[in-house]
Amino acid sequence: MRVIIQENYDKMCKWAADYIAAKINAHHETRPFVLGLPTGSSPIGVYRELIRKNKAGEVSFSNVITFNMDEYLGLPHEHDQSYWYFMHDNFFDHLVDMKPENINILNGMTEDPEGECARYEEKIAACGGIDLFMGGIGVDGHLAFNEPFTSLSSRTGIRALTTDTRIVNSRFFGNDPEKVPAYALSVGIGTVTDSKEVLVLISGHNKARALAQTVEGNVSHKWTCSALQMHNGAIIACDEAACGELTVDTYKYFLDIEKAERL
Ligand code: GLP
Repeated sequence: MRVIIQENYDKMCKWAADYIAAKINAHHETRPFVLGLPTGSSPIGVYRELIRKNKAGEVSFSNVITFNMDEYLGLPHEHDQSYWYFMHDNFFDHLVDMKPENINILNGMTEDPEGECARYEEKIAACGGIDLFMGGIGVDGHLAFNEPFTSLSSRTGIRALTTDTRIVNSRFFGNDPEKVPAYALSVGIGTVTDSKEVLVLISGHNKARALAQTVEGNVSHKWTCSALQMHNGAIIACDEAACGELTVDTYKYFLDIEKAERL
């Protein structure tokens, strides 16, 4: 596992955007580059920087297919808290060459959630698998909507949200946890770890415990993010604020090993 420690949120986002753009630019196959994407506050700065690069001609999305991590069950596209809305508002609508037909987001209004999830997995496989999955993380370590005790080999499916997550996410729903949908559709931990590379953003003091569990904790379904320890291409991009619960040795180790400038 690589852990990239940056001074602050903006630098973390810049690093992640540079990394993603470099990977897309280095992809010379005719098969499109397949990019997994998250929602949440964490990736907003990455999206902003990728949009800037795309407009400046530094990276093209014309040969990129995207798959989003998750979607609330029961929210229509036009609901301003649906992840479909979030992704278009914060990213896709601003790219100059993203093809709408290359955007994949689980349909939270489907009448057949199980079929929808099975088809999502099939489509990922048909595209040749995910080259790079960017993710965020919940304060309880959830990756996508894989709450504590979701199987580390889970696939795309329906997820019940914990009360804790509904409380945390209620900041987007008028601070009323009851307004946060109780269920979501989400890729599984196995779906994420099948990707060639996984890049997870962890920022802020409130994520310090989750970062420590991801990097130093046991591999356990209690902290589903800890599955990344078993992945051969996992990168955590974090800021100083999120490092508060790491041991001094761990912190120094990752700074030391990343000293030689490399992307
Ligand atoms: C939600 C999403 C996750 C996301 C998490 C953290 O629960 N389903 O994919 O990583 O929130 O969000 P934030 O980045 O806003 O802290």
